[in-house]
Amino acid sequence: MYKALCKKIRDKKAKVGIIGLGYVGLPLAITFAKKGFDVIGIDINKNRIAKIKEGVSYISDVSDYELKKVLRKRRFKVTTDFKAIRKIDAAVICVPTPLGKKRRPDISYIKKAVTNVKENIQKGQVIILESTTYPGTTREILLPILESTGLKEGRDFYLGFSPERIDPGNKFYKTENTPKIIGGISKKSTHIAGLLYEKIIEKVIPVSSASAAEMVKLLENTFRIVNIALVNEIAMLCEKLGLDIWEITDAAKTKPYGYMSFYPGPGVGGHCIPVDPLYLSWKAKRHGFETRFIDLASSVNETMPHYVVGRLRKILADRKKRIRNAHILIIGVAYKKDVKDLRESPAIEIIKLLQKKRAQVSYHDPYFPYLEIDGVNMRPARIDRKNLKKFDCVLIATEHTNINYRFLARYSKLIYDTRNILDRSGIRGRNIIKL
Ligand SMILES: NC(=O)c1ccc[n+]([C@@H]2O[C@H](COP(=O)([O-])OP(=O)(O)OC[C@H]3O[C@@H](n4cnc5c(N)ncnc54)[C@H](O)[C@@H]3O)[C@@H](O)[C@H]2O)c1
Repeated sequence: MYKALCKKIRDKKAKVGIIGLGYVGLPLAITFAKKGFDVIGIDINKNRIAKIKEGVSYISDVSDYELKKVLRKRRFKVTTDFKAIRKIDAAVICVPTPLGKKRRPDISYIKKAVTNVKENIQKGQVIILESTTYPGTTREILLPILESTGLKEGRDFYLGFSPERIDPGNKFYKTENTPKIIGGISKKSTHIAGLLYEKIIEKVIPVSSASAAEMVKLLENTFRIVNIALVNEIAMLCEKLGLDIWEITDAAKTKPYGYMSFYPGPGVGGHCIPVDPLYLSWKAKRHGFETRFIDLASSVNETMPHYVVGRLRKILADRKKRIRNAHILIIGVAYKKDVKDLRESPAIEIIKLLQKKRAQVSYHDPYFPYLEIDGVNMRPARIDRKNLKKFDCVLIATEHTNINYRFLARYSKLIYDTRNILDRSGIRGRNIIKL
């Protein structure tokens, strides 16, 4: 059975099932299909399945053209029916892992997905979890569910974890050229998962266990959250000292070793950086261990939207303007550059804080033709000469490539740039204030 599965994978005859077709699952499914595998995508969201069937991508990193191509070649099929699992050789689970009540890990999506796998599992299949989660999930949660069928891991089926490292919006690093970490429950599982990913990804790195692979991902994201918090803290200090944080970071990064660039901003967003380290701190607490760096970094980053609003209040006060009833235009509401994703976006937090202070808030983001905040719909503001003049301040919360910053700078009364995109683009002016 083991040898037969290895051969099927080597010959690209293995059928691959991707469970959860979101930011992670859809690009992965397309990559497998492009490389010559027959792929079946399974998702509980009927709208998403219908869109895919029409050849319409809802993920900015996947073009309609790419999607239509693999559909036309009949390499990629999609369904909401989990019985499709019976026909596949490899199942890759890419479902969400958000925070639940009290900001604790919510692994209910993983449990549901793996229960669906259990109900349809066949001997000789390999199952890989890609959703980011705390160390031990694959062994402690997935393994018992799957073995409750009477089948044995390493003999009847294979199980492993491989963290997704996708960076939405990154034009250079995609699924194929981002090295892939793999850790199996058994050695055979690590080997099989490695064979599978080697067919689509340039470099595969096996580690000793599924838990080690889970920990690698959390180390990476914890590293980011801590360094972002550090530079955010230094940025707030620089304001007090009358120094320009952007000048400092630009100069520091000229050191050829021992320093890595991180930049301040209005806070951290997305499904990963603000969320994943909390999975680790939760697990740590269950072992009586306190993750002080994570807790501190989370708290510093969470203060950033408050800091930005406080600074904006001062900037306006210096111009004899109160924040109450001030007209503020937020540029960019996505959590990061060039993505259509609002999850945990600090821009949304800033809008809410400003609304609490009774400011008149508008927004502009080419990725969002409308916005719903706490049940209230917002329509984007027009960016033209006349309209820009109406705003007391324009606050750049997220930089997107397709925004005309020169125009903004020219016709806005005042701009508070939390991303330093104007200076980096060579746009300067007395009306521009940087974070
Ligand atoms: N988005 C990123 O940049 C990124 C990067 C690295 C890792 N990750 C991790 O990858 C995982 C998936 O994230 P995402 O951003 O792709 O999420 P997403 O919300 O974009 O997509 C998840 C998909 O899973 C589907 N789904 C939910 N429950 C399901 C079930 N039981 N069966 C089948 N489908 C189901 C949803 O309908 C949705 O389409 C998360 O653990 C996340 O932390 C995300």
